[in-house]
Amino acid sequence: MCVLSIIFNISEREPPRAGGRYHRMNKTLETLGGVGVVPVIKIEDAGDASPLAESLIAGGIPAAEVTFRTSCAAEAIEAMAREFPDMAVGAGTVLTVAQADEAIAAGAKFIVSPGFDAAVVRYCVSRGVPVLPGCVTPTEIIAAMNLGLDTVKFFPASDFGGVRTIKALSAPFGHMKFVPTGGVSEENLADYLSLSCVLFVGGSYIATGAMIKSHDWDAVTAKAKKSAEIVKSIRGR
Ligand code: 3PG
Repeated sequence: MCVLSIIFNISEREPPRAGGRYHRMNKTLETLGGVGVVPVIKIEDAGDASPLAESLIAGGIPAAEVTFRTSCAAEAIEAMAREFPDMAVGAGTVLTVAQADEAIAAGAKFIVSPGFDAAVVRYCVSRGVPVLPGCVTPTEIIAAMNLGLDTVKFFPASDFGGVRTIKALSAPFGHMKFVPTGGVSEENLADYLSLSCVLFVGGSYIATGAMIKSHDWDAVTAKAKKSAEIVKSIRGR
């Protein structure tokens, strides 16, 4: 350690850079990055999980974030993960370590939380499951980064300045990737996906509660298809 490091307590550790960190090596996040847009799901009946997954896959979106906002979330994740093993199914609105544990036991391949909680992040890291805590301030991003993460959720994206804020954050945090969620729509999807620091986006508009409740699977497939086309037009895949 050099003298300056001792005096000013400057760490000689390399700052985190793109690649080589916890998330970058993760296959599921790579898959989600390829899909580009992940439907945020609120499901009231686990019996709807299978046709819902099928309709998303048919529309070219083999991914879903099933939120812990209903009591059947874990059961729905379990059904999707069992019946569609190639689908990237994760859990959202995970607020506690107990919920993270339940989601992982059900087969969730990734964990999403609206906010940052060190215990939840640490637990997911210890289980080897990618975790995306909601971070909208530099302080939260640094906290996530210091637990080894290189990708965070940016929520609620539109209320916290959307594309403009993500661009501003990516200046000091050039090695970080963001997953904007909250207010994402067909209209602004392309704007978010155009940012190289956006790994993918999340949104409930592809499979809304009303579509799921009325079993309007054709509408889900149509919405998924349209979003998959937008992803392709921007990212060329
Ligand atoms: C989330 O949990 O990520 C959001 O509730 C999804 O936001 P949206 O309903 O605005 O898409």
